[in-house]
Amino acid sequence: MPAKAIEKLNAEVRSGDAIDQSLRPGCLADFSGQPKLRERLSILLDSARARSQPLDHLLLSGPPGLGKTTLAHILGAEMKATVRTTSGPAIEKAGDLAGLLTGLQEGDILFIDEIHRLSKVIEEYLYPALEDFRIDIVIDQGPAARSVRLNLPRFTLIGATTRSGLLSAPLRSRFGVAHRLDYYSVEDLTRIVRRSAQLLGTNLDEAAAPEIARRSRGTPRIANNLLRWVRDYALARCEGKAAHQSVVSALEMLEIDRHGLDEMDKRLLQTLAGKFAGGPAGLQSLAAAVGEEAGTIEEVHEPYLILEGYLQRTPQGRVALPRAYQALGLQPPASQGHLL
Ligand SMILES: Nc1ncnc2c1ncn2[C@@H]1O[C@H](COP(=O)(O)OP(=O)(O)OP(=O)(O)O)[C@@H](O)[C@H]1O
Ligand SMILES: [Mg+2]
Repeated sequence: MPAKAIEKLNAEVRSGDAIDQSLRPGCLADFSGQPKLRERLSILLDSARARSQPLDHLLLSGPPGLGKTTLAHILGAEMKATVRTTSGPAIEKAGDLAGLLTGLQEGDILFIDEIHRLSKVIEEYLYPALEDFRIDIVIDQGPAARSVRLNLPRFTLIGATTRSGLLSAPLRSRFGVAHRLDYYSVEDLTRIVRRSAQLLGTNLDEAAAPEIARRSRGTPRIANNLLRWVRDYALARCEGKAAHQSVVSALEMLEIDRHGLDEMDKRLLQTLAGKFAGGPAGLQSLAAAVGEEAGTIEEVHEPYLILEGYLQRTPQGRVALPRAYQALGLQPPASQGHLL
């Protein structure tokens, strides 16, 4: 590989974080896909601007990499508001929360990622802050303990969660509407890949972008990661030109199959089809067999596998569908043959 190309690759590896930032759409118009959610958010934005008030608190939920953090920053930019970012596990003590809240200015957005991981105690402190923009903190201990009320500026809380099922009912109800992000269609992902390729200065041929999109498991983060790999591969092996065939070779090298299933997806299906003879298998047994947390399987992996018809949730447990056997190159059991 020419020294110049190596130099370029190294420089880009070093600036990986910066690239991630630069691929993030900065306004709602550049955010592809999620048409229903986009429309709802633009209504909320128009209303808040018309009222000259901050947005109401809102909750964004959905599997990793679909754009929750991106949307929180877009909402900030659209409202010309400062976004302060933290995460559920980072707020350990009531004092941490009080510090965060009292540091806010009128109209600021407080973005709490992984909000389902807030402790119950912190949640309780948060309720009056969300409803009445005040917080009561207890200072001192024992007989000298007293509660001090602090008034807060009007702010917007944006919560993000990959595990909306774990959110406590009282917290969820404080948010009004919960906005769920869905997996992206191949068309939307193709648009995202083309936009990112342009930003990275990578020359993709016509068929290359949909090929990456199809293998991205409905997820923009995966699409961008695959694109970066394709860019690297093209620079190192194909003088920078990412033609369809080099995209296919690059992705085969990562062992990402035509369906975009990742390693854990495949392990799940293999275990279900093999060890459990196609199922039904209980979630806990399946989780133990593949060495992954049950909640992660349920909230991160299964939704895509169910959506794409590889797996079914039944009252008796998880069942592998014919498409799973096809993807694994296995013969489905005779009882399922008629479904093919
Ligand atoms: N609709 C979109 N259009 C273009 N790019 C997108 C879109 N959604 C997400 N992305 C890209 O995908 C990447 C991942 O998105 P983001 O970090 O917002 O996901 P997330 O839902 O917050 O994930 P996590 O749950 O892991 O925090 C971003 O860097 C962004 O570039
Ligand atoms: Mg995020």
